[in-house]
Amino acid sequence: MRKIFILTSLTAALFLKAAAQEIPIENGWQFARGDSSQWASPAYNDLKWQHIEVNKPWEEQGYPNYDGFGWYRLHFMLPSSIKEKAFLKDSIRINLGIVDDNDEVYLNGKLIGEYGGMGGDIKTSKYGPRSYTIAANNPAILWDKENVLAVRIFDTGGAGGLYGDKHSISMLSLIDNVTINTDGDFYFEENEGISKTIYLSTRSNYVYKGKLNFKVTDPETNTDMREATTDVVFTAGKPFNYPFTIDKLPKRSYKLSYIFTEERSHDIMVKTESTPYVLTPYPGAKPRINGADVYGARPGNPFLYMIPATGRKPMSYSAAGLPDGLKLDSRTGIITGVVAQKGEYPVVFTVHNSAGTKTKKFTIKIGDVIGLTPALGWNSWNAFGLTVNDQKARVAAKTMTDKLAAHGWNYINIDDGWEAPQRTASGEIIPNQKFPDMKGLTGYVHSLGLKMGIYSSPGPRTCGGYLGSWQHEDQDAKTYGDWGIDYLKYDWCSYSEVTNPSPTLADYKKPYQVMRTSLDKIPRDIMFSFCQYGMGDVWKWGAEVGGNSWRSTGDIEDTWKSMSTIGFNQVADGPYAQPGHFNDPDMLVVGKVGWGDNQRNSRLSPDEQYTHISLWSLLSSPLLIGCDMGKLDRFTLGLLTNDEVIAIDQDALGKEARQAIKTDNYQVWIKDLEDGGKAVGVFNTSDKYQTITLQLKDNELGGYTKIRNVWEQKYIITSGTNYTTKVAPHGVVLVKLSK
Ligand code: GLA
Repeated sequence: MRKIFILTSLTAALFLKAAAQEIPIENGWQFARGDSSQWASPAYNDLKWQHIEVNKPWEEQGYPNYDGFGWYRLHFMLPSSIKEKAFLKDSIRINLGIVDDNDEVYLNGKLIGEYGGMGGDIKTSKYGPRSYTIAANNPAILWDKENVLAVRIFDTGGAGGLYGDKHSISMLSLIDNVTINTDGDFYFEENEGISKTIYLSTRSNYVYKGKLNFKVTDPETNTDMREATTDVVFTAGKPFNYPFTIDKLPKRSYKLSYIFTEERSHDIMVKTESTPYVLTPYPGAKPRINGADVYGARPGNPFLYMIPATGRKPMSYSAAGLPDGLKLDSRTGIITGVVAQKGEYPVVFTVHNSAGTKTKKFTIKIGDVIGLTPALGWNSWNAFGLTVNDQKARVAAKTMTDKLAAHGWNYINIDDGWEAPQRTASGEIIPNQKFPDMKGLTGYVHSLGLKMGIYSSPGPRTCGGYLGSWQHEDQDAKTYGDWGIDYLKYDWCSYSEVTNPSPTLADYKKPYQVMRTSLDKIPRDIMFSFCQYGMGDVWKWGAEVGGNSWRSTGDIEDTWKSMSTIGFNQVADGPYAQPGHFNDPDMLVVGKVGWGDNQRNSRLSPDEQYTHISLWSLLSSPLLIGCDMGKLDRFTLGLLTNDEVIAIDQDALGKEARQAIKTDNYQVWIKDLEDGGKAVGVFNTSDKYQTITLQLKDNELGGYTKIRNVWEQKYIITSGTNYTTKVAPHGVVLVKLSK
């Protein structure tokens, strides 16, 4: 029988095969927390264990906040017919989906594979998709009999266990050793066509031959617009490169399919992806002042604000009405100093260049509240995980200055992984070898007019297993102040081990109150970002405890399921957003992400990425870029530099959008804006094109007759009392309505 393998762009490691050669192992798993060598044995009686599902982490199945060891066991039959029907009969592959973090796998009591360390050493921690291949004649396999698969897992923090999409056992086929690599960038040609090179590769010495069929499909009508077939040959070390160019098309996404048919086995592998398209217009030569209209700082503390402006360089900056104590560098637009007096100071910024002059009214609020609009910046986690280092942070800072700061981006936040294994003899926290000079790094970031963030946990250890601030809060706050830190992400993690096992509301608040008190002793404005995944309805008390933002969810991944589930569920917390205090549905997953050493393109399609940025802006979320900044491509840059979209996020009213309409296929979210306008996101949550009509009568949108497409920065001409728009699958149309 012919086998078909489909690799989708959403889950690059996902295989769908014809059922016959594949045994699904998705159901019937038993689970126990803890650790015992007996649990590997097929003879062990696991009947009293708990049932567990392998499509979600154990935290979501009755084991909240559990880190450490857990075992999964499954009894299953392995029919030899799968071997007989296979083209290659020599190996089987066991797909375990995602393992979080490390595992040892036993088949009928024999160790058949292991990955990552079991001792909690974070450096060897290997969260991710996992599969093992073993010889079909391995005596551990019991063909046509009951087998017992036992998976020992060690979770170092955060979500744990087996999860993900695909759990199966199959015969290894010729095509299993083939990769269709689509990780290269798309290039936008001058004539607005796009080009790219993909390649077919293998690590096997077998010489693969066959045909590659390439198709461009219009996702709206499902018609193929272009098709080409090429003979291909590749083997280990000699990939087959396939460059292609697609001429200019209307600005939307098209589906690309790469279909490889292997000549001898007739196995087919399909990979699809969607083309990127840039809606954000290039900024013009004339100066334009971007970013929020308001900035808050505390009296007596160092002040740092860079006027974000686009336009032809060089530009000169001036400001009228600056409060006493502040000075502006007219060449860089960086304002520094210290203001002693509380008060609201109306200021007028002026930016001038050879193409013109632009002014903007701005308010500096010197008072108790900072972070009046959500933070805009970069955080190392989604890109580099625990492999972040000084160099990567510097690249991020330099890139932010060159490409993003003109649009208001300003924080460089180092997440987990910077801490040394031991405190000094006097108990001070110090960085590890990856950060040889934290104060120097912070100085560099400040010299660019940017700000610097850091990460810790109220527990003894961070989620990544590094040192936390437990019982050293005052000392750590002081160290951060000495280094010049401007932002602290404070992540619950192992605090579970030192608090009540069933925390009360007071227990949830406590560690954040303690660190708040410590930070208040430091003469710096340090943004305080709570990270405890929404426990105890943190949105209800985050502001009172002094948080500038609080995570409202668990960790995001770069999948539609993760991003859309998080984004479209920000309902209960919405009303609590206010200037200085925002919900944080977690960091952005656009651009090249990877949580470690290897970065790849976000698995969100281009339309899903437009949805992500639009929705997060409507939600007044901190926007923290989570990609390798050294590898920003033009599409990602377009996503992150649309000043009208950013203005929605940064709106001074500080409200969060409401879910106004929710159907099975689409949603409408509406955000009130400071100028009386409304930002409206029309989201297509289905996987087909949809035509959606927005009523502008007899509802809160009545009388709003001016409609502006925010991504394209164009007014839309409509007549009558409704607005009808086509929305791409998983895509969005973001508009601003005014009267
Ligand atoms: C948790 C947080 C992440 C990241 C890691 C670091 O999982 O939710 O955002 O900070 O810890 O270990």
